[in-house]
Amino acid sequence: MWHDNVSLPRDLYDKICSIVSDKLVGTRTVHVSNNDTGKLYYTTYGEDGSDWPEDVIEQISEFYEQLFVSKMMFQLGLLERSEWKFNYWIQGSNCDTIGHKPHTHFSGNEIISWCHIIKAPIPDEPCFHFFRNTPEGTIDGEGYRTVFGSVYEKLYPEQKTGDINAWPAWSMHAVDATSSKETRIVIAGNISLEKMTDGESLMQHKRDGMTVTWNIKELS
Ligand SMILES: [Fe+2]
Repeated sequence: MWHDNVSLPRDLYDKICSIVSDKLVGTRTVHVSNNDTGKLYYTTYGEDGSDWPEDVIEQISEFYEQLFVSKMMFQLGLLERSEWKFNYWIQGSNCDTIGHKPHTHFSGNEIISWCHIIKAPIPDEPCFHFFRNTPEGTIDGEGYRTVFGSVYEKLYPEQKTGDINAWPAWSMHAVDATSSKETRIVIAGNISLEKMTDGESLMQHKRDGMTVTWNIKELS
């Protein structure tokens, strides 16, 4: 739904590459499937970022805040009629680590998910992909994957260094393992909606534990 190609400031890029490459060395081996184990990619997902230098986290947050305000949310026409916040996580992988299984980011108020390719050592190597339903009878094989009993075709967007793609948070996606010896680095996250209006109604989000409700008020 939205795409651009943007570069991080050089000093920030260098710091992130160095930190992620160091941290990737320490990732653990995990159970993947029957009798199959693999080394886990590095991720800050579910972490609070406190083991990262504060100035780096601040610079990253400022970079995306500015990008979303000046470009993405502006170009999607959401800037002036919604209240939203964003989060992100930083991931690193290489040819020794596993891919990322099919998943979505939606849990009630995430409306946009995004992934910024910080460093793709092999230009446009197809790793990140979406899934498209296929007609009945399609054979599972290369370029396809069975998820929850249905066969899907894998769709690979552009993913060279600097590419940032945004999609609806309900869209299922996955990442194939990279064949790169060098560290492949991405920063991914969500835009979560707090309030939105179309001029006729005001939609307001409330989260109570695992329950999400939307209060809809008609505007006169
Ligand atoms: Fe994801």
